[in-house]
Amino acid sequence: MAEDGAGNKAMDGETVDGETVNGGAPNGNGADDWSAIESLPRQKLEELFASDPDRLDRLCVDVAGMHFDWSKTHLTPDAVAAFEALAGRRDLAGRRDAMFASAHINVTEDRPVEHTAERYEGAPGAVAAAKKYHERMRTLIDAIEAGALGDIRYVLHTGIGGSALGPNLLVDALGRDASRYEVAIVANVDGVGMQDVFDRFDPHATLLVVASKTFTTTETILNAESAVQWMQEAGVEDPYGRVVALTASPDKAIEWGVDETRVLPFGEGVGGRYSLWSSIGFPAAIKLGWAAFEELLEGAAEMDRHFRLTALHQNAPALAGFADVYYTQVRRAETRATFAYDERLRLLPPYLQQLEMESNGKSVTVSGEPLTRPSTAITWGGVGTEAQHAVFQLLHQGTHLVPVEFVAVIEAGDDLNPEHHRQLLLNAFAQGAALMKGKHVDDPARSYPGDRPTSTVLLDVLDPRTLGALIAFYEHRVFVAGTLLQINSFDQFGVELGKEMAKAAAKGGGEFDPSTTDLIRRAGLD
Ligand code: F6P
Repeated sequence: MAEDGAGNKAMDGETVDGETVNGGAPNGNGADDWSAIESLPRQKLEELFASDPDRLDRLCVDVAGMHFDWSKTHLTPDAVAAFEALAGRRDLAGRRDAMFASAHINVTEDRPVEHTAERYEGAPGAVAAAKKYHERMRTLIDAIEAGALGDIRYVLHTGIGGSALGPNLLVDALGRDASRYEVAIVANVDGVGMQDVFDRFDPHATLLVVASKTFTTTETILNAESAVQWMQEAGVEDPYGRVVALTASPDKAIEWGVDETRVLPFGEGVGGRYSLWSSIGFPAAIKLGWAAFEELLEGAAEMDRHFRLTALHQNAPALAGFADVYYTQVRRAETRATFAYDERLRLLPPYLQQLEMESNGKSVTVSGEPLTRPSTAITWGGVGTEAQHAVFQLLHQGTHLVPVEFVAVIEAGDDLNPEHHRQLLLNAFAQGAALMKGKHVDDPARSYPGDRPTSTVLLDVLDPRTLGALIAFYEHRVFVAGTLLQINSFDQFGVELGKEMAKAAAKGGGEFDPSTTDLIRRAGLD
């Protein structure tokens, strides 16, 4: 990255002191690699439709019970071809094969990336290990159902980040009708969340699930300790006998007090934000039933096969990754928004935030050189139609370019008057149409510039299989974007410094700046 006289950093393609920054950088992240993409003509969306009668066909993909539509983005056949060429230079196919073969593509942590093995698509050894771990989980669930741990009606799951967001999405999306168990997933260290569950659950009928890949995460361990204490205080005879641990560090879980028979391990190669397929998915498996959990895995595996075997110009994760990278790198969009037009998917945007930002929010390349281009877009979003009445003003008329994704389901999730679902879907489609079309009137305050890009994911139904495929689609999309940008999407060192400083402060140590020291003192924490 170049600096101007004031020390401000500039990205490739920007101008500093009269000169265009050319990142002909040794990491290959330079302007040359991008010139074919950056020099593509910039036609408006409506012109693109007018000039190509096959546009819809070219930019739609149907796979795994889902219809994907990128026709209202600025992708063109030439842009897709240019991205295919870039993918070739980045060896996307080779990296994809390496991931499915358990090669150590997570180079900074010297680990394989094995979440696809959890749905039985991967290297034979990793798949066999995943099957063994799943069998263990299934056996424990069967035993719990048979009453081995007493009368269990509540499941209290503590975990954070990838150890909470995925299971929470699954249970919230698919567990609405199931009457089996009441599940609560508590992530935050703020005791208010835990207390709320303690007020609702019967400690004598609660299974405590402690989910932590490392089994060292402060929030999770503190929450688990409070839950054990709550059971103890209520007179539960052996609270630790009601604890299940989900972890890649079984020894630590055992050391903490969980009996080995109730530790459900998973492999180190399964990253936290990619772990819902492993034993981290336990709350979903117990709530929805084993058959549903297997369907989830099968749906994801179908997307894995599509990603592995389909040409990039018809490959859903690849096209999505191309569009994402086009907007961040060429149009310099800083954010991207996903709106779930389905209440059952309301936790999809927060899930995607971790998946995308923790994976591709980096400043260095795989080989440790400074990234000379923007990394991933800031991911945000919400639920339609509510968001239309809150944030869509900016999307239609604000100065920011925000590519929007709509996710909707054809089959309604409710039994009310069908007009509810009809209105819901029509609103999603109309928003996409309006963002593209715009409106030009004499009054500037009432004009809409239009030409704003949107993509749509339309699910036939929301069931475990389709949701599995949808989540796997997002995982691979992140991988495509990370590969094009030469980012290691599988480490997350950026979260460590804040954790270290919080730990130091909790121990009464740490060197802090005057402002932080003052805040600690004011809160009475010194
Ligand atoms: O702080 C970030 C992070 O490491 C995430 O990557 C992870 O999902 C989360 O914390 C929880 O980690 P663990 O599962 O080890 O408790």
